[in-house]
Amino acid sequence: MRYTITVIGLGFVGLTTALAFAEKNHRVFGMDINPNRLDAIRAGKLPFIEPGLDHALIRHIDHNFTVTVDSAAAVRNSDFVFLCVGTPAGEKGEADLTYIYSAIDSFASVLHDGKYRVIVVKSTVPPSTTSERILPYLQKKGLSAGEKFSVANNPEFLREGKCWEDMMNADRIVCGVSDQRGESMLRSLYSGFDCPFFSVSLNTGEFIKYLSNTLLATMISYANEMSKIAETIGDVQTKEAFQILHLDRRWGGCEMKNYVYPGCGYGGYCLPKDTMAMYSQAKTKGYEPKILENVIELNDTMPQHMVDKIIRIAKPSNKIGILGLSFKPGSDDVRDCSSAKIISLLLESGYKNLLAYDPIANEAFDREYKFEHIIYCDSLEDIYIQSEILVLVTAWKEFAGIDMKDPAKVIVDCRYYL
Ligand SMILES: NC(=O)c1ccc[n+]([C@@H]2O[C@H](COP(=O)([O-])OP(=O)(O)OC[C@H]3O[C@@H](n4cnc5c(N)ncnc54)[C@H](O)[C@@H]3O)[C@@H](O)[C@H]2O)c1
Repeated sequence: MRYTITVIGLGFVGLTTALAFAEKNHRVFGMDINPNRLDAIRAGKLPFIEPGLDHALIRHIDHNFTVTVDSAAAVRNSDFVFLCVGTPAGEKGEADLTYIYSAIDSFASVLHDGKYRVIVVKSTVPPSTTSERILPYLQKKGLSAGEKFSVANNPEFLREGKCWEDMMNADRIVCGVSDQRGESMLRSLYSGFDCPFFSVSLNTGEFIKYLSNTLLATMISYANEMSKIAETIGDVQTKEAFQILHLDRRWGGCEMKNYVYPGCGYGGYCLPKDTMAMYSQAKTKGYEPKILENVIELNDTMPQHMVDKIIRIAKPSNKIGILGLSFKPGSDDVRDCSSAKIISLLLESGYKNLLAYDPIANEAFDREYKFEHIIYCDSLEDIYIQSEILVLVTAWKEFAGIDMKDPAKVIVDCRYYL
């Protein structure tokens, strides 16, 4: 079955989703409110760096995949509408649904036409959002899901830096559904993907996504707490200790063990805001989540903890080189990254001789944060020569070979990597 699909929001998740369906030979329309993003995509250029997705875009743009500014026109012909807009943290840590509502506003009038469609919330939203916020929002517009259209959610588990690979070789597809017809259409849409398909209740679909992200955040904060305990006790080889922990055969050689490893705190677009949103949602519903509260609190202390280490060995006149700016290796995403927090704290403490180098994220970082007093270097060699103190913040592979023996260079390894 060849479906027509509209994807609203063409970021990491939306563009990957759109191109994955195009790859499966569906007809896909993509819409975004950011005109620069649309222009880039229309010209066959990714607005961020994602291996594999670049080639997929070139394969499908203006064939199976068309970008548009008119979501209503696209939705009119579509069997599915995927909402992939951002859900940032609100003032009290809750998920801000503003973009979801405005995306719905852009096509809601079309839903009166009687054509059956499935509206799918792919953005990450806390459990009960589809049932208690989105369905009532549509209802207020005189739109009752059921006969004319179905509302579902379909959380996304891809990792940045591996968006295309993770989407095309998904390990599981989860759909929170509200009725049989929507469920069977989603099952049919995803039949081209070779992985288990789970249809669950609306709240369960959303809950599964937060199970995943809050577990990752918890593992990271656990590892960071243990590293702080190790430092307090003294004479503990922290890096080796964690590497030996990973040899336990009960890990079964799995990649998950990489999250039980200390660093300078979790960052990026998802873990901070999703952990906060789950914490906030639990409290709103009447449960005080003690573990999540501590996971967040511990994470918040990590940038200052690293800055304290730097300040113990550096004078404000020293040239300090920050190695790595993106929130993780393999990506140029700098949202909520540890490097920005560390740089900001260093600047506040009067350390203004800062240099920075990231293999791919210098430009994105400068655009996002516009810090004064930072000199961006073009290569590892360049920053190494110019700096007296080097602070490794993102564990890019190319940093692994850095010369640790030069007595003129002091290295602060925030990732226990070297
Ligand atoms: N980035 C990830 O690794 C990842 C993984 C899984 C789930 N998610 C979730 O997916 C959602 C999207 O994340 P992302 O990283 O792709 O975000 P993103 O910021 O990269 O992309 C969101 C896009 O939505 C657009 N947008 C906002 N409002 C719009 C509107 N009304 N109409 C059309 N476009 C609109 C923005 O311009 C932007 O291009 C979030 O809820 C996020 O938590 C992200």
